[in-house]
Amino acid sequence: MPQVKSFAAHGFVGVICAKHSIEENDIVAEHADAAKKFDPSRAAAYDRQARLALAGYEAMHELAACCLAAALGSGGARRLLLAGVGTGQDVATIAALEPSWRFTATDPSPPMIEIARSRLDELGLLDRTELRLGLVADLPETPHDGATLIGVLHHLPDAASRAGLLADIARRLAPGAPLVLGGNYRTYDSEPLLRAAWRERWRQHGVAPEEAQAQFERITGGVVPPASEAEVLDLLAEAGFGRVTRFFQSLFWGGWIAFRNADQAL
Ligand SMILES: C[S@@+](CC[C@H](N)C(=O)[O-])C[C@H]1O[C@@H](n2cnc3c(N)ncnc32)[C@H](O)[C@@H]1O
Repeated sequence: MPQVKSFAAHGFVGVICAKHSIEENDIVAEHADAAKKFDPSRAAAYDRQARLALAGYEAMHELAACCLAAALGSGGARRLLLAGVGTGQDVATIAALEPSWRFTATDPSPPMIEIARSRLDELGLLDRTELRLGLVADLPETPHDGATLIGVLHHLPDAASRAGLLADIARRLAPGAPLVLGGNYRTYDSEPLLRAAWRERWRQHGVAPEEAQAQFERITGGVVPPASEAEVLDLLAEAGFGRVTRFFQSLFWGGWIAFRNADQAL
């Protein structure tokens, strides 16, 4: 029986439904490393760091909104599942471009979701957003019209956890619904020129050399992303997604739209 815990004291919209007992500053064990990386200090620096580390960060989110509108039709009463929403960029961008859409937005990192809550409050978007601290697996299996998973997959440690998260999203989508997937792919040593160009971004944006080195080593020395686009497509297929189109590419960062297979039981 799922445990239900209210976070009203923190101003979160809705409740947290947890198969696991999630304490306020606790994170579910099997995804602990990926969520714990986004601790208070990294969360506070995230909005600047993401724009350096993920070249074309804002374009990715805007194109996600374009692709979703192309798949779903613009306007209308749509509800989207935004998984791993972090500090709220996914909601902020899509909500501004599609004013009639509503969102279920979830993330297992308390400091990240707390920043998202303040930001969405300032933007007046909390009445369109059910913001939940926790994993996708903790959400009820209500069918959504579409979903995003941006910047999350390459933080998970292995193919099994990546496929598991995609399958958890698929189970919360209507048959045929679109998913926008954004994330790093290809090992960072596989493209030396792109790796060097990526490294230059910190310097060109005025970050001090020691800090730039530390940031770059932290990112490239962490979890190894999916090794190829073929591996990304395999993960999507395993989770029940097909009809995949890549819509974005910058350095190691890629964006795809895929559709939940309508005829496949999940
Ligand atoms: C790089 S941030 C991306 C945030 C946001 N989507 C964006 O584009 O700015 C990665 C986020 O994934 C979250 N995360 C880690 N493990 C996760 C999991 N198993 N399921 C969903 N999100 C997860 C982290 O807490 C973090 O907020």
